[in-house]
Amino acid sequence: MKYYLTTPIYYVNAAPHIGHTYTTIAADVIKRFKRMQGFDPVILTTGSDEHGQKVERSAQAAGKTPQEFTKAIAEEFERQWRDFGLGIDHFVRTSEDPKHRETVQWLFERCMKNGAVYKGSYTGQYCVFDELYVNDAKPGDPCPDCGRVTETVTEENYFFKLSAFADRLLELYEKQPDFIQPDSKRNEVISFVKQGLNDLSISRTTIKWGIPVPVEGKHVFYVWFDALTAYLTAVRDQKDKAGNDIWPADLHLIGKEIIRFHAVYWPAFLLAAELPLPKRVFAHGWLLFEQDKMSKSRGNIVRAEPIRKVMGADALRYFLLREIVFGQDGSFSYDALIGRYNSELANGLGNLASRTLTMIQQYRGGVIPAGSAESVQKSACETIAATAESFHKFDFSKGLEAIWAMLSVVDKFIVEQAPWKLAPNQDPAAQQKLDAALFASAEALRIATALLYPVLPESCAKIWEQLGMPEPLESVRLNSLAWGQLRAGQKIGHIAAVFPRIEAKPAIEKMRELEAQVSAEQAVLMGKAPAPAASGSPQITIDDFAKVDLRVGQVLSAERVKGADKLLHLKVDLAEAEPRSIVAGIAEAYAPESLIGRKVVIVANLAPRKLRGLTSNGMIVAASLEGGKPMLAGFLEDVPVGARLK
Ligand code: MSP
Repeated sequence: MKYYLTTPIYYVNAAPHIGHTYTTIAADVIKRFKRMQGFDPVILTTGSDEHGQKVERSAQAAGKTPQEFTKAIAEEFERQWRDFGLGIDHFVRTSEDPKHRETVQWLFERCMKNGAVYKGSYTGQYCVFDELYVNDAKPGDPCPDCGRVTETVTEENYFFKLSAFADRLLELYEKQPDFIQPDSKRNEVISFVKQGLNDLSISRTTIKWGIPVPVEGKHVFYVWFDALTAYLTAVRDQKDKAGNDIWPADLHLIGKEIIRFHAVYWPAFLLAAELPLPKRVFAHGWLLFEQDKMSKSRGNIVRAEPIRKVMGADALRYFLLREIVFGQDGSFSYDALIGRYNSELANGLGNLASRTLTMIQQYRGGVIPAGSAESVQKSACETIAATAESFHKFDFSKGLEAIWAMLSVVDKFIVEQAPWKLAPNQDPAAQQKLDAALFASAEALRIATALLYPVLPESCAKIWEQLGMPEPLESVRLNSLAWGQLRAGQKIGHIAAVFPRIEAKPAIEKMRELEAQVSAEQAVLMGKAPAPAASGSPQITIDDFAKVDLRVGQVLSAERVKGADKLLHLKVDLAEAEPRSIVAGIAEAYAPESLIGRKVVIVANLAPRKLRGLTSNGMIVAASLEGGKPMLAGFLEDVPVGARLK
């Protein structure tokens, strides 16, 4: 049976960051898990949302045509998913794919034919950033989502009769209680629909960058009608081997902020067009950075690529799925990432693997002995059931917790059995006990590896190979995974550490360094980078800048320096015990008395230097034009003396 799942198609006016990676990794985990459950084919669609005013403007700002701009960013997303080894089957580019254009027009015509679309005129407050009319907003009101001021727009639109679908939507939520997950989101959507729905404008005449409405020269589709249809574009007319249609989607995986579009508008469009509805919409939570929402304006966006380069894709996959309860908000931090990696992957799974395999190598010449141990067997069987159930519910953190509980049972078991004590004991009973301990540990390791495959595909494949398993790991099916399938007599493979320990400080430094690099590269891609050659200065990091202690000072006294036309000797108050003595080359531009009481900017941690017998303990900051006179930096607002500039 087929399983079809999707991620949102991402806007191309931002380059990929860890939030996009979070959803796409989760989709890849689900895809692998669905294969394990026996679905075939499992198809995953993602893509890029490329139309609309925002993109048109971003392209303009980057000095590119929308076509050039969208291509470059879409390729960046694709590259990222490829580098992460994510199993993407379809990548839909909404502005590029002729099949998509045709599908959007086809969907519209079906809605039109069924009387769900009409032409009207609309005046409203529009948020250009979110591409959304803001209901009930007055001119000048900010957008409730992003806070930017809305624009008043009047235009002729095609409207979708959303108001006519409220009852059918409520019936859908009622009959198919798991259509919207998690439940908290379901309740939110139900109360939104119960308040009554307004019709939805689905075309624009003010925008050029979009898919044309059929027969209507001046209208293009409003981005959400266009974007949501990408899910259909990817698999329209596709069938599985048994001849069943791939559509409808079994799962739309999204972030919580776009639930309304997926759980209200999208099923309404499909109902109007008399097309099958998706089975489920699952909204996961927000990934925060050290408790703060990631945003461009806060400058706290983290990219996934540096983490992959320093720690590997699996480290990030594991962290995201273990740390955050899927469906709730969660926090990312480098410390937490490395903490979990070292304690749970390096010391936990990695250590168990190398310990078990090394003992088999040492005590049994690398051949898996026959035997078993009831306590470990019981724990492994329970874990298979518990993990299968949790993963099926997309409760990944709980499933992973269950696997780690089993690993600790095995760890304890090894300590109790103490194979290193049994090995030298030639008594057959001791040797049998040793066989049992080795087999049970290896079999538990095999089961853990099979269960963990969706989350840790690369690392589990390595452990699988080290166990000497003959069949490929991807071919393991959940319903046939059971205790006792490890073959005695099997030769293990070459043992190598799968999760080497990571030293936190240098790793974080490296990731931050790469982060700065990637973000600079992305800025170039978005056309936002300061042209590196323009200033001629090499780039510095924020840490470099932080080394400079810039302070607000107030000039207490100023005198000319004898024998030097350009120098003034200043005493500057920096709110320290003593005023600073500073010698500055500003005598040609400023009369000494004009400076008394003036607030200035001082480099307070410059090493002292002697000038004409006077010590200068710092430097005054001024703009200096070639051939012109220096002009002191100052403030328009009143600032306290001693305040730091940063
Ligand atoms: N283009 C629309 C979606 C159209 S789908 C038919 C869009 N694009 S987006 O680029 O803004 O991507 C939003 C999605 O990216 C979220 O729904 C979520 O899947 C993911 N995330 C982006 N930032 C995120 C976090 N900080 N945390 C979690 N997920 C995040 O909306």
